[in-house]
Amino acid sequence: MAEQTSGDPLFRSHDPIFNRKELLHVGHVPDEDRIVGRDDEIQSVAAEVGAITRGDPPNNVMIYGKTGTGKSLISRHVATRAKDAARGNEIDCAVLYVDCSEANTETRATRQLALSLKEQTGYQQNIPLRGVGTMEYYQHIWGILEDCFDAVIVILDEIDKLDNSNILMQLSRAREAQKTDTYIGVIGISNKVQYRETLDERIDSSFGHRELFFHPYDASQLREIMRNREDAFQPDVLEAGTIELCAALAAKKHGDARKAIEILKEAGELARRTGSETVSEAHIQQAQEVAEINRIEELTSGATVHAKLALYALASRIITGGRETYKTREIYERYVGICDLVANDPITENGLYRQLKEQAFLGVIESEKTGGGRSQGSYLLHRLVTDPKHIVKAVRRDSSLEQLPTYDQLHETGPSATNRDLDLDSFA
Ligand SMILES: Nc1ncnc2c1ncn2[C@@H]1O[C@H](COP(=O)(O)OP(=O)(O)O)[C@@H](O)[C@H]1O
Ligand SMILES: [Mg+2]
Repeated sequence: MAEQTSGDPLFRSHDPIFNRKELLHVGHVPDEDRIVGRDDEIQSVAAEVGAITRGDPPNNVMIYGKTGTGKSLISRHVATRAKDAARGNEIDCAVLYVDCSEANTETRATRQLALSLKEQTGYQQNIPLRGVGTMEYYQHIWGILEDCFDAVIVILDEIDKLDNSNILMQLSRAREAQKTDTYIGVIGISNKVQYRETLDERIDSSFGHRELFFHPYDASQLREIMRNREDAFQPDVLEAGTIELCAALAAKKHGDARKAIEILKEAGELARRTGSETVSEAHIQQAQEVAEINRIEELTSGATVHAKLALYALASRIITGGRETYKTREIYERYVGICDLVANDPITENGLYRQLKEQAFLGVIESEKTGGGRSQGSYLLHRLVTDPKHIVKAVRRDSSLEQLPTYDQLHETGPSATNRDLDLDSFA
């Protein structure tokens, strides 16, 4: 490919790999025609909030699903379309979006709602940034809604990160409590299906809502999502089969569109760094490994040292023992040895069991009850959802755990260490 250069050859004006790299950025919101494979979900969300466009009260809806399944994208997409459709019917509808992983308290969330309403309207009153409580923000919210809008769709993304659910009650009771006549539809989004139970405990029936579940993408959907952004690359840079491979790997691991797109981008950067003119399957493989380790590190970043050690214990058993699944007891035995190695006091077996359950919650491991007849009792078998190699790498990135044996060291120990006693001293 001919290379154009700017004045200084140090800075090439022409990117040999990427054409429109922004299509692969994390925050990029694709155009409508680049949204793929979510027609049913779009219909379902529209069915819940769509009444707004006809001047009728909407349903609240909770959307559950793992990360990267298009929940945020589809919610914003449908809300925006509903707003436009409403305008066509001379109904003033606002769309408000709150990322509750940042605005994680009721005060922060209501402040953001109030400020974004002010921004959308020419509201004259001053809304203080600090020093006032939730009630004052609610006053502003009701005031602006009442003055300016017939309806509003409030998207509360990552709602499980909110410290309480009062905002749901306030929003759903606002009309009944005569705070405002504006119709309010809430779209709550959670990456954790388990939040469902918590929610039921926290709220009463006034927050009536439907539930939707977004499933991980399969390989063909991921393929289409990436095909639709192929023009992020220069023509002919992506070798045949690369998108297919990327989709297959991502579908097998997690079905997360965000990660799939990230892998594609990372593969392109790898190609560029190494001076390659094309992106090959090898680049995808390599990018996928890095992404997977990052993903595990991200998932476990908030976990305690003991959770990490528990994961490491399971990974190291799999590496040295060759089996896919291990009992809690077997993991515990290895865990105790490992604690010794990093000079950490072990927690109890029951404590470890709870850590494992927490990891299952994060989607890093899967646990299933097995076991025999009445006399034998049942027990749990744990397996890793990812390559144990990645767990070892991710756990060792924690600076307090970097002295743990590497994958290669564990691997060399081999099946001789199937028994409880991996000779950890040899690594120390
Ligand atoms: N159906 C889709 N079509 C095109 N791009 C998608 C689709 N689903 C997700 N994406 C892309 O993948 C990324 C993750 O989607 P997002 O909606 O943020 O997932 P979630 O909120 O479920 O974690 C976004 O960058 C989005 O652009
Ligand atoms: Mg999201």
